[in-house]
Amino acid sequence: VSLKSYNTFGIEATARYWVDIHSEEDLQTLLQLDEYQNKPKLILGGGSNVLLCQDFDGLVVKMNIQGIDVVREDDDHIYLKAGAGVIWHELVQYCVTRNFAGLENLSLIPGTVGAAPMQNIGAYGVELEQVFESLTAIDRQAGEKRTFAHADCAFGYRESIFKRALKNQYIITSVTFQLNKRATFHTRYGAIQETLTQMGITDDTLSIKAISEAVIRIRRSKLPDPAQIGNAGSFFKNPEIPKNQFDTLKEQFPELPGYPIGDTLVKVPAGWLIEQAGWKGYRSGDAGVHAKQALVLVNYGHASGNEIMALAKRIQESVATTFGIAISPEVNLI
Ligand code: EPU
Repeated sequence: VSLKSYNTFGIEATARYWVDIHSEEDLQTLLQLDEYQNKPKLILGGGSNVLLCQDFDGLVVKMNIQGIDVVREDDDHIYLKAGAGVIWHELVQYCVTRNFAGLENLSLIPGTVGAAPMQNIGAYGVELEQVFESLTAIDRQAGEKRTFAHADCAFGYRESIFKRALKNQYIITSVTFQLNKRATFHTRYGAIQETLTQMGITDDTLSIKAISEAVIRIRRSKLPDPAQIGNAGSFFKNPEIPKNQFDTLKEQFPELPGYPIGDTLVKVPAGWLIEQAGWKGYRSGDAGVHAKQALVLVNYGHASGNEIMALAKRIQESVATTFGIAISPEVNLI
C-alpha cells in the first residue's frame, strides 16, 4: 500500500498491511487477531506529524472513527466528544459556527482529533490542554478501553504521557473537550493583534469567528499548504535553555528573541536560530527549508524521508555550532 497520500510530507513509502478503523469495536477485534498480534503497527491519523524514513513492514492502522456529539453541558460549559478520525479543523469550524469557545486559536492545524492530545497541539497562545476534558483509548496489548482525565495525560509543551511513559501503548479513540459558553479571547500574540486590526476588528466587534479568521490568514501567509508543498508543520521544537546561557548569548546576538519559562529557563524560537544560521529558503534536491518560516522543512516533490532527515541533521549541527543550542525534532520519525 502506498503511503504517499497519507502523510502530509508526501514521502513515497509503502506499508505491508493496511486497515481502516471506523469504531472502537473494530479496533478491539483487530487487536485480538492472532495474525497481527506480533506485527509492528503504525497508528495513523492525518499523517501530519510523521516523517517516514523507510517502508513500513507492518500494519498501518488508519483511525477513521467519526462523530461530534454534545455529551453534556452546565451553566458555563459545553462538553463535546469527537471521534479520533474527525479532521481537526472540521471540529474547530463546528465549534466556531455554534459559538462554542476555546478552539478558535487552533484553527487550520492539519491532522485529526485523535492525534491532537499526543503532542498537545498548540498555536497562537493556546494549547489543547486548556480545553481538554478527557479521552478514551484502547490498550494495544489487552484491548481494554480506558478513560484518561486531564491529570492522567501529563501534558507539557508538545508533550504528553503518550509520547513518554505510555509511548506506543494506547490508541486514542475519542476526545472530550470542555468548551466555553462565554468566550475568553486570546489575542496577546502579536500577529493576531495586527491581523485583527487589518481586518477592521475592534474590541466591540471581536468574536471567536474573527479570531479564527485571523489565525487562518496568518497560517496561510506563513505556512506551506501540504496540498501544494509536502511538510509536517514545525519540524523542530522550540528549545528551552537556561537563563544564564540565554543572557550570555544575548550579549553576542542582541536580537535573539526569548520568552521566559519560570525563573530559570528561556524558550527560544528555533525558527530564528535556523534563519540566522543561514538556512531559510535553502534547498538541496527536493528537500528544503521553507522560505517564509525556517522551522518548517519541505518536500518539493520526491525527497525521501532520509533526505529530509539528512537536511535536519545538518541544520541541528549548524545551530549547535553557531549558538551552542541543541534542537530536537517535533515530528515523529518512523
Ligand atoms: N522566526 C524567525 N524566522 C523564521 C521563523 C520564526 O526569526 O523563519 C522567529 C521570529 O522572531 C518570530 C518567532 O520566531 O517572532 C516565532 O515565530 P512563529 O510565530 O512563526 O512561531 P514558531 O515559534 O516558529 C510555534 C509553533 C507553531 C505555531 C506557532 C504559532 C512550535 C514547534 N511551533 O512556531 O506550531 O503555529 O508557534 O503559535 O512550537 C507546529 O507545531 O507544527 C506549528 C506550526
